[in-house]
Amino acid sequence: MNDTVETVHVALPGRAYDIRIGPGLIARAGAEIGPLLARPRVAVLTDETVAALHLEPFRAGLAASGIEAPALALPPGEATKGWAQFSRAVEWLIEQKVERRDMVVALGGGVIGDLAGFAAAVLRRGVRFVQVPTTLLAQVDSSVGGKTGINSPLGKNLIGAFHQPSLVLADTGVLETLEKRDFLAGYGEVMKYGLLGDAAFFEWLEQNGPALAKGDLAARIQAVRRSCEMKARIVERDETEQGDRALLNLGHTFCHALEAATGYSGRLLHGEGVAIGCALAFELSARMGLCSQEDPSRVRAHLAQMGMKKDLADIPGALPDADALIGLMAQDKKVQDGRLRFILARGIGQAFVTSGVDAGLLRAMLAEALAAR
Ligand code: GLY
Repeated sequence: MNDTVETVHVALPGRAYDIRIGPGLIARAGAEIGPLLARPRVAVLTDETVAALHLEPFRAGLAASGIEAPALALPPGEATKGWAQFSRAVEWLIEQKVERRDMVVALGGGVIGDLAGFAAAVLRRGVRFVQVPTTLLAQVDSSVGGKTGINSPLGKNLIGAFHQPSLVLADTGVLETLEKRDFLAGYGEVMKYGLLGDAAFFEWLEQNGPALAKGDLAARIQAVRRSCEMKARIVERDETEQGDRALLNLGHTFCHALEAATGYSGRLLHGEGVAIGCALAFELSARMGLCSQEDPSRVRAHLAQMGMKKDLADIPGALPDADALIGLMAQDKKVQDGRLRFILARGIGQAFVTSGVDAGLLRAMLAEALAAR
């Protein structure tokens, strides 16, 4: 089993780490994490849903190497990612007498990874942490690259720090426990990597995406590996998002507006918004004459092939009009000097960052997409 584990190295000077990808990593957590520890003890932050499924196997994996693992399970859901549960987590880590050389573990999806990473960043001015992502979205995006943080009542991810993990253990076996909708939402972020920088990977997804969704383990490992590799290379170039890292936000300006418009509810999951946002970014690029009209059609065809939401018509319930959506985009934290920044594309795999978006074309495209509902 061990030989199916792949490693992606993130070569950041002074804070390099490995992303280990494959089945059975939770069961062998002790062997993976043990060599990094100053003493045989970690403090685990997780949520109640993940704890019920994976905490005991994870603890058994650590115990096999003699590692103790007290754990705190927070309530599941985005509401946890705020000051209240954050301060509860930090106080608990202090009660557990986590010392400067100790290790915190984030066992869960994006909410837990972001919150636990931020707790590790501020506890005793910074302790190390390991990410053990249990959703596809967390395995290919949020657990890698060191963005940690919580939400403010005024907006998502407004409070945080860059704090790189010491190790990421992406156990692809746990993906089997995900609801199909959550798995496919995570796939939105996988597809994003092909669209932003690797046309051959997008082509591979067109061929292998359906098998991957049905549970093909080799295809899942390959997709997580390529996604992490692409993210690692971008983060190595631009850790704190002064330039290239913004490419990872392909589809996100549209997504954040749609998430705000749907009240961050079950009407639209983040990864679903990213998928629709990618389709809209390609549509806008085509209308601006940057890429061929076939490109957005190909993006939507792939989403349809995967059984995913592909445009505004697929979002249930009412949506605000085009101007209100543009207003919500303007609140996105990617706005710079009051100008909206978009990730557009010159073709599949050729994304770039720009503030030069034709506002008339944007409004017309959104109005048309809303009228088709
Ligand atoms: N999720 C986008 C980034 O890590 O930069």
